[in-house]
Amino acid sequence: MKAKNALLILFLVLPLGTAFAADVSPEEELVKFQSYFKEKFPEIPFQDFANGVYAVDPASREQWEALEEFPPYEIDIEEGKRLFETPFKNGKTYADCFENGGIGIAQNYPYFDAKRNEVVTLPLAINRCREENGEPPLKYKKGKLAKILAYMVYTSRGNTIDVKIPNEKALEAWKKGRQFYFSRRGQLNLACAHCHLENAGRRIRADILSPALGHPTHFPVYRSKWGELGTLHRRFAGCNKQVRAKPFKAQSEEYRNLEYFLTYMSNGLQINGPGVRK
Ligand code: HEC
Repeated sequence: MKAKNALLILFLVLPLGTAFAADVSPEEELVKFQSYFKEKFPEIPFQDFANGVYAVDPASREQWEALEEFPPYEIDIEEGKRLFETPFKNGKTYADCFENGGIGIAQNYPYFDAKRNEVVTLPLAINRCREENGEPPLKYKKGKLAKILAYMVYTSRGNTIDVKIPNEKALEAWKKGRQFYFSRRGQLNLACAHCHLENAGRRIRADILSPALGHPTHFPVYRSKWGELGTLHRRFAGCNKQVRAKPFKAQSEEYRNLEYFLTYMSNGLQINGPGVRK
């Protein structure tokens, strides 16, 4: 309880979103957002933000680098490749659904589908591919889908995130995601931005808070806490629960818009997933 109270006091003296006014353009917001982190952590090279908390916490970085030498997700990438290449019952494969056969394309997701008027994430596209080929959809938080994703993301390593906002509807989706990011929720009454923007680099209980910049570059992630691979939306749900808010469903419109906003704000960083975290 003591720790919780200390945390709340810390947040109360830091009014939220003052530097991020309501009606700015995504282009301007992106510059502000990235500059904010560059100024807050002037010693960190821009691409290093892709490494989350390990960019800002030298103490845990060494341990993490040792883990990355024999990464626990390696076997998931292999399994993901096997699943990706196994033909559906109709003889087609995932490669038939994606540009460039699905190889090296993760940096283009999520994208705004102008025909359907919605944000399409890579996990959603994987399941739509299955359904178009008469296969049942996979669960969104872990398991087979996370493994297929691990493989597809792995083939995209080093590619630069380049999320676009092509029209007014897309802008609306981005704004909804942004709104989500800055809205207080749960019994603790905290927004994503409280922890990962204003207090990035600070300690909260046993953790150091990672900067929001770079959050989407390395998912899916193998977490030792989970003992397995999990997707970005699984993590969103975990962070919603942390503030005792009811999480949304993985791949709900809310989380897809949130991912759209967050990934756009990381434009210019390189894909480095899958990753490993505590
Ligand atoms: C009470 C503080 C708090 C709030 C509010 C919070 N988080 Fe987190 N979040 C954490 C902690 C602690 C971790 C684990 C350490 C780290 O990487 O920051 C974490 C981790 C994450 C990660 C994984 C980072 C990585 O490098 O793998 C993502 C993504 C994330 N949070 C997104 C969000 C989003 C989106 C929201 C709003 C829905 C949110 N968080 C709200 C505390 C918070």
